[in-house]
Amino acid sequence: MTRGNFITLEGGEGTGKSTQIARLAEFLRPFASEVVVTREPGGSPGAEAIRALLVNGPAEKWSAQTETLLMYAARRDHIERVIEPSLARGAWVICDRFADSTRAYQGVAGGADPAMIRALEDHVLAGLSPNLTLVLDLPVDAGLARAQSRGEGEGRFESKGRAFHEALRQAFLDIAAREPERCHVIDAQGPIGDVAARIADAVKARFSL
Ligand code: TMP
Repeated sequence: MTRGNFITLEGGEGTGKSTQIARLAEFLRPFASEVVVTREPGGSPGAEAIRALLVNGPAEKWSAQTETLLMYAARRDHIERVIEPSLARGAWVICDRFADSTRAYQGVAGGADPAMIRALEDHVLAGLSPNLTLVLDLPVDAGLARAQSRGEGEGRFESKGRAFHEALRQAFLDIAAREPERCHVIDAQGPIGDVAARIADAVKARFSL
C-alpha cells in the first residue's frame, strides 16, 4: 500500500489554523482514501492528557526545557498511535502543529537549548518529517486579537507577552526560509476563502493534484 502524505500547519496564535484545516480536509477528500485531522500537543488520549498539563495555568508554570520534554513525550505517543499507523494505511494526515512549534515556541521564543531540541528530533521523530508544512503568517496584533476573542480558556501561551509573539512569528519565517522544499508561507490575512484558496494552490503544486 502506498504510504500517505503528512501535512502540518504551523504559525503563531490566532492565525486561523483550525478553520483552514477543516477546509483543507474537504479539499483533499476527493484525492484521498482517508483524511485524518489531528493536532499537537494532543491527538491521542495520552498526548491529550499531557496537553492539559501544558496549555492551562500561569505562563511561568513550566520552564521552556520542561515544556520541550512534555511536548516530545506527547509527540512520541501521537506518532506511535495515530500518525504512523495512519500514514502506513495510506491516509493523508493533516496535523495542527508539529515539531516546528517546539523549535519556535520553546527554542527560539522560549530559550530552550537548541541542542536538546535537535537531539529529541533525532531520537523521537526518527526520520519522520512532513511532506509539506504550511506556515500561516499574520501580524502579531491581528493574531492575538483573534485568539483572545475565541476565549477557549487555553490561554497559557497566549499570555506570554508581545515580544514572545514577535519572536515566534520571526522564528516560523526563519524555519520556512531555511527549508524551502518542505515549507510554504501562507499570508493568513484576509477573508477565510482567500486564505483557503492560497493553501489549496500550495497543496496542488506540492503534490501535483
Ligand atoms: P493551539 O492553540 O494551536 O492548539 O496550540 C496549543 C498551544 O501549544 C499553542 O499556544 C502553541 C503551543 N505549542 C508549543 O508551545 N510547542 C509545541 O511543540 C506545540 C505543538 C504547541
